[in-house]
Amino acid sequence: MSPANHTLPYLLNLILTSISSSSFTPTPFDPGFNITAVAEQAQSLPSHSWEFGTAVQAYLELNSPLLSVFAPTPFPVSNPSSHVPALVYAEQKIILGSGANGLADGDGATGDPASLGVGAVLLGKTDARFASAAASEIDYLMNKAPRWANGAISQRADVPNIWADFMFMAPPFIAFYAADSNDLSLLHEAYSQCGFYREILLFNSNSTSFSPIGTSPTNGLWRHIVGPQGADPGTWSTGNGWAAMGMARVLATLLKAPVSQDKGASCEWCSAAIKDLSSWIKEILDGARASQLDQGLLRNYLDNVSGDGHGFGEISGSAMLAAVAYRMVVHASDMFDETYIAWADGIREVLAGEDSAGNPHVSRDGIVTPAVNPLGWWDTTPWTSGSPEGNNFAVLLYSAWRDCVYASLCKKPPAFKTSGARRSFSVPTPTYLIFGWDVRFTLALFCLLRGLDYCYESW
Ligand SMILES: *[C@@H]1O[C@H](CO)[C@@H](O)[C@H](O)[C@H]1NC(C)=O
Ligand SMILES: *[C@@H]1O[C@H](CO)[C@@H](O)[C@H](O)[C@H]1NC(C)=O
Ligand SMILES: *[C@@H]1O[C@H](CO)[C@@H](O)[C@H](O)[C@H]1NC(C)=O
Repeated sequence: MSPANHTLPYLLNLILTSISSSSFTPTPFDPGFNITAVAEQAQSLPSHSWEFGTAVQAYLELNSPLLSVFAPTPFPVSNPSSHVPALVYAEQKIILGSGANGLADGDGATGDPASLGVGAVLLGKTDARFASAAASEIDYLMNKAPRWANGAISQRADVPNIWADFMFMAPPFIAFYAADSNDLSLLHEAYSQCGFYREILLFNSNSTSFSPIGTSPTNGLWRHIVGPQGADPGTWSTGNGWAAMGMARVLATLLKAPVSQDKGASCEWCSAAIKDLSSWIKEILDGARASQLDQGLLRNYLDNVSGDGHGFGEISGSAMLAAVAYRMVVHASDMFDETYIAWADGIREVLAGEDSAGNPHVSRDGIVTPAVNPLGWWDTTPWTSGSPEGNNFAVLLYSAWRDCVYASLCKKPPAFKTSGARRSFSVPTPTYLIFGWDVRFTLALFCLLRGLDYCYESW
């Protein structure tokens, strides 16, 4: 059983938009804030390995949506052109090394450099150095990194330590690498890691079998860090965002990996895994949706209404979890109904407005505020000078929303008023028909035959 998904209309609309403007326009719709400025900051703020990795993913989804796993057919990975902005960026930021630092200096982390892994696989299609770096990063994660009692790969290289953050860094890369190399057992490992992490961070258990949904002591909200170093039992909003979006990327990869769809070699575990991942994501989103907001935003510790300063409303977790909601509405619309759209729209609209002091949530310079201190989750002072990850989550939110509009599920917003480049598709449906034949299908067929990159690059 695979969840109903709406990626075909998405593809058609994307192609049509690309044709109606002279080139692909990553920001066709006005979110009420300056997304161009936000995206520029998202690229310039990062200075740590995981921030670079997050920016690569955000840029891929924004500028080259057909290369991201949320595209209708991301596999087989084709040779990306040398003009893909996310890969130009990745090539600058990846520092080839060895062991845990195979793609960047992880400063003792296993997962953080792995966040650059998807970029490395894509670059590896035209540059063997990156292909081999991606392979050794996988080898490190699978065979050398410390593991927790149930087999969860540690986020720290020296001792087994489990962080929700890891979920966005490593499992999506493991899944992507597996899909690209048609390795079904590695794909299974990406899914298992999600389950193992959920056991530890949601159930405080070391089980290798997965607890039923709806049975957690925290109403679905994951703890942040478990282990001997820096344990944080709180339900960190950003951590729940890392976990949910990490699983959404693993799910999208699993849904589209040729090896899981190959009818000859039927995947026995795939449909259960698809159902599990969708439910685990829903569990987090439902927990977040049930949490009391602070001025329209999710709290830094989602359930902390104690007034001790740890529960202030902030943009990082809010933007990421709203992005997850939009993605899931498209990829598993049988489980995620329009109430998830309304919830995500609410957060997006708050970001487009002002805080209680009358300051815009997105500054003129494109800084999205207030965020949690990106290097200090216990800091009770809201961070207003620009969170590298927070700004990138706002880009993920924008792309997820745009793609939900293209999938004809989210309501079509007004296009930018400025004429010229930023045109959105506004052709009424009947004009798609020529002699009763929907030209969109012809175009989609053409792209599928020629390769999607060809279409994307030529428009
Ligand atoms: C949005 O930001 C970009 C880049 O910083 C800037 O060039 C542009 O003028 C801004 N647009 C508006 C409407 O302020
Ligand atoms: C789980 O495993 C860790 C070591 O990896 C151990 O410290 C902890 O006590 C175990 N917890 C339970 C509930 O068994
Ligand atoms: C949140 O609130 C509780 C109850 O007031 C408090 O004990 C806890 O330490 C707070 N902080 C975090 C980071 O969860």
